[in-house]
Formats: sequence, structure tokens, C-alpha cells
Amino acid sequence: MATSRGEFSSRLGFILAAAGSAVGLGNIWGFPTQTASNGGAAFVLVYLVLAFCLAYPAFMAELLIGRFGQANAVTSLQKMSHSLLQKRFAFLVGFGGIICAALILSFYGIIAGWMMSYAVEPVTKLVGLTDASQWVISQGLVRNLLFTALFMFLTIFIIRRGVEQGIEKWSKRLMPLMIALLAILIIYVMTLDGASAGLQAYLNPDLSRVFKPDLLVSALGQAFFSLSLGTSVMIIYGSYISKKENLVSLGAQVTLIDVSIAFLAGLLIIPAMYVAQAQGVAIYADDGSLIAGPSMVFAVLPTLFEGMGAIGLFVGFAFFILMSVAALTSSISMLEGPVSYAVERHNMQREKATTVIGILIFVISVVIILNLDFMLDLVAMVATEYGQPIIAMLCCIFVGWIWHRNSVLDELKHGNEAVEHTIFWKIWPWYTKFICPLAIATVFIHSL
Ligand code: TRP
Repeated sequence: MATSRGEFSSRLGFILAAAGSAVGLGNIWGFPTQTASNGGAAFVLVYLVLAFCLAYPAFMAELLIGRFGQANAVTSLQKMSHSLLQKRFAFLVGFGGIICAALILSFYGIIAGWMMSYAVEPVTKLVGLTDASQWVISQGLVRNLLFTALFMFLTIFIIRRGVEQGIEKWSKRLMPLMIALLAILIIYVMTLDGASAGLQAYLNPDLSRVFKPDLLVSALGQAFFSLSLGTSVMIIYGSYISKKENLVSLGAQVTLIDVSIAFLAGLLIIPAMYVAQAQGVAIYADDGSLIAGPSMVFAVLPTLFEGMGAIGLFVGFAFFILMSVAALTSSISMLEGPVSYAVERHNMQREKATTVIGILIFVISVVIILNLDFMLDLVAMVATEYGQPIIAMLCCIFVGWIWHRNSVLDELKHGNEAVEHTIFWKIWPWYTKFICPLAIATVFIHSL
């Protein structure tokens, strides 16, 4: 066991780090594209409800497990277990989460690499390297390997430095940068023709679609991905929070930031699609559906930026830097899950563990890159549609059924003496015990 553990040095440090993990490609890319393909504002509405009513309670469960255990996911869950059987189960859940985080990083790194390559493209154009600018955005093997490696290198670089000097310091630098870039881009897009039609589609819900099962499934999956649930990540971040802090409000603040940034990203992307349409770019596919998914960010938006002339180079650069930064504050959290496990359970030195695990994950990325057409979707599906919901559900079961109610209360009372008399304590325990696992299971079974 490592002698001293890292801890976030301040409240703000934790909020920015956890929000940094939560806010990523899922918010800026996933949420707007899901919104576009699920009928606009109706999706937004359902998402907001599910994020606060289901994802937030599950998020609290994971943070609490970590802060109680003061250790990686496996050790923390085992500390709550009473019998040998429960300890084995704890191992399965904790280790499953760690594997899930590693798998997510293996494909997330590839997509983040694309974002970086699109950020490099305007620069190569500006200095007149036309061939290079073609190459960086072509779907080539070398280009994919190179940019994924670059992104993984940055992730490893930060995680090697540990909690305070790595995760916290870089989240504090990168998160404000990201929010500023987002705000500037929104203001700019709003001044363009077509933006108001986009706003309309984004904010005016078609209530008849709200209860469509597919929409519910997508919205819940998106909410869980966005809060990084079911992957050991929030357990380990929870373990770095001081016992002096009020977890209930910290968790709520992070959820609020995550949801707000997804909402803001929609405010940028959806109007940008309509602006592109006003400039003659096709935003509807042949079958009449809105173009969503990768083609939107990588086809519609660059065409929009191109149409802006010289300023478009800067806007495009800013946009893809924004994406890359958001991805980086998330990827570091994914790597921290496995690294903390190796350091604490196998006595590995942090630098070494980070480099070895980072390289192993990169090897998985290489395998995916070599079989891009089928493996990218497959790994993403296994990790996010199966792994995450199942593990998040099991974490709720741990808190609701295995952990003693009094210990749960004791843990919550650290930094929040009066919690026993709040509505949170009146609702959350039974909610986590019954509603969360049931709702997650229902949605999961439906998605099969
Ligand atoms: N929440 C991040 C996003 O929205 C993705 C993410 C970061 C993540 N860490 C995670 C997803 C751990 C699952 C598990 O982009």
C-alpha cells in the first residue's frame, strides 16, 4: 500500500477536476449530436430530468464510496463488504470499472486525436502547407496512429505528476480556457445568418416525442457517459476529496456544471448547423434525417468555418482546440482509475505505472485503428452501453444493499453535520436502493 495518498488541495480544485472529467467529447460532441438526431428540444428536456433525477444520485453513490474507502475502486468497495462473497463481488465491480475506463480511453484517444488533427489543419493552411493540411484531416493509418499517440502522451504526461501537481493543476488551467473558448464561439455563431432557426429547433420541444423509449434510452446513456459513471473514475476522484468537504453540494455543483456545459455546447453546435445550411451546406442526409454523429463535427462544421474566409481559420482552430482540451481533462480521469489501482494494490511507483498502463492502452488503440470500421463502434458499445450502466447499477446496489445505512450517514456527515435533517437524506438512500437500480436495469434491458 502506498504510504501517502494524493488529495485535492482545495474545493475549487476538486470541482474543476471532476467537472473536467465529466465535461468532454460527450458534452460538446455527443450531447449536441444526440439532440440533433433525437428531435431537438424534446431530447434536451428529457436529458435534464434524467441527469438530475438518475445520474446525480448514482454519481453521489460513487463519490461516497471513494471518500469512505480513501482508496482505489476495488479497495474502497471491499472496505464496505462484510463477507468473503461480498469482497469477491466488490473486486468484480471495482475491477470491471477499471477495465471499462481503460477501454473507454482506448477509443476516446482516437477520437481526441482527430480533434487535435483538425486543430492542426488551419495552422498548416495558414503557413501555406497545402499538402500537409490535406494529410492531417485524411483518414489515414499513419495520421491516426500519430495523433492518438500524441494525445496519449499528453494524458500520460499529466497523470505521471499525480493528483495535485497533475490532475488538479491542469484542470485548473484547462477548464477556464475551455469555457472561455466556448463562450466566444457561441457569441460569434449567434451573429450569423440562420442561427435563430437553429435556436428555435434547440429550445422549442416537440412534447409528443418526450416519452419515446428510444429517446429515453439515449438520454440516460448520454447522462451516464457524461458524468463518467460506472468506470471507477468518480470513486477514485471521491477518494481524493477531503473529509472536511460537503459531498452533497460538491456533487450537485459538478452535475450542474456538466449539464450546463452540455447545454451551452448545444447552443453552439445546433445553431452552427443551421448557419451551415443557410450557407448551402447539406445538413440533412438523403433520408431526410439530420446529419449527426462524426460527420457533423468533421464535415458540416469545417465547411462552415471555410465559408467564413480568413477568420474561419481562427474559428476552426479555436473550436478544435476546445474539443481537444475538453477531451484531455476527461482522458486523464480515465487513466487515473487503472493507475491508482496499480499503485495502491501492486505497490507500483506512480510514474512507472502511468507509463506502462498508458502504453498498454495505446496498444489497444492501435488494434482498434487497424480495424477501424468495426472495432471503434464495437469497443465503444461494449464499454458505454453495457459496461457503464451495469457497473453504475452495481455501485448503487453496494450503497443501497450492502453498506450499512448508519455508515452511509456517518460518511455523509463529514463536512455536512446537519445532513440527517435535509431532504437529501430523506430521499436519496431509498432512491439509490430501489429507483436507481431499477431504472438503470429497465433502460438497459430495453436497449438490448
Ligand atoms: N464524461 C466524459 C465526456 O463526457 C467522458 C469520460 C471521462 C468518461 N471519464 C470517463 C466516460 C470515464 C466514462 C468513464 O466526454
